[in-house]
Amino acid sequence: MSNTTTGSVLRTRFTETFGVEHPIVQGGMQWVGRAELVAAVANAGALGCLTMLTQPTPEALVKEIARTRDLTDQPFGVNFTILPSISPPPYAEYRDAIIESGITIVETAGNAPTEHVEVFKPAGVKIIHKCTSVRHAIKAQTLGVDAVSIDGFECAGHPGEDDVTGLVLIPLTTERLDIPVIASGGIADARGLVAALALGADAVNMGTRFLCTVESPVHQQVKEAIVAASELDTELIFRPLRNTTRVASNAVSREVVARLEEGAVFEDVRHLVAGTRGKQVYDVGDTELGIWSVGQSQGLVHDIPTVGELVDRIVGEAGDIISGRLAAMTRTSL
Ligand SMILES: Cc1cc2nc3c(=O)[nH]c(=O)nc-3n(C[C@H](O)[C@H](O)[C@H](O)COP(=O)(O)O)c2cc1C
Repeated sequence: MSNTTTGSVLRTRFTETFGVEHPIVQGGMQWVGRAELVAAVANAGALGCLTMLTQPTPEALVKEIARTRDLTDQPFGVNFTILPSISPPPYAEYRDAIIESGITIVETAGNAPTEHVEVFKPAGVKIIHKCTSVRHAIKAQTLGVDAVSIDGFECAGHPGEDDVTGLVLIPLTTERLDIPVIASGGIADARGLVAALALGADAVNMGTRFLCTVESPVHQQVKEAIVAASELDTELIFRPLRNTTRVASNAVSREVVARLEEGAVFEDVRHLVAGTRGKQVYDVGDTELGIWSVGQSQGLVHDIPTVGELVDRIVGEAGDIISGRLAAMTRTSL
């Protein structure tokens, strides 16, 4: 049972296709997309996604899926991030573990999901492919995915190399695709949700906003740092390597930007960007310890609500904006 209390309901092709109450997705978040957060999102009537690569092995992922099921009986998904890597994780084994665990929704990201779509689809898994350009969205639709999440330049994590913001990217994508489109990047409240729907999207995806909730499994000081930060407090690292990543601005990320601009190569900054240092930020609560992803939307984050409060607030206020402020505008000419 969903624990939502709001009376507002927004029905879209997304809610119909994926069988969730609200058109809101919590996308994959390395170290953050664990059972506690994902179950809270599911119980709030939105779509939460466990982050596959946060689990060190396929067996650990199976256990995390079971742990999530202990906390919710609502549907949830798994984020399947495909990294460019010399020694890639055992993707096929993770994929089998997801299918055998009975997961029916997967969010792919990072690279074209071609061979994974060919296995997931016959197994009855619905796929949301997250990408950062119209051409990749069209390709994903051709591959047979069920929805596309389109990530604007504002987003946390990987915005791609085209630097097109959501206000242009979302309507361009919705006008080219037949399948549901999820607007992602820079969205943190009801205004963003209503704007995304107006641009033709069927749902929104949020990372940064869910990172800063009570159930998010990161240190309280990280959440307080997000509330205190502004939209200006992010850095784009790895630009010269064409693997741009939007992260929190701190001494480490600024040093990475400076050294790569001076001509350093990845090996020179590897120790600075190590995933284990980033994880320490969340465990210890010292936001200067390493690299951690956050989006420009942190400027819109002013509090640390429970996930249930957040989803209720966004859906309730979206209903108010649509039937109040916007409806009043259409009446003014009468
Ligand atoms: C802490 C954090 C970690 C993330 N890790 C991943 C990841 O592992 N895989 C992925 O596909 N997206 C990842 N993302 C991106 C989000 O799923 C989402 O696309 C993005 O946060 C949307 O932009 P927003 O933060 O402005 O809402 C991460 C985002 C954050 C904030």
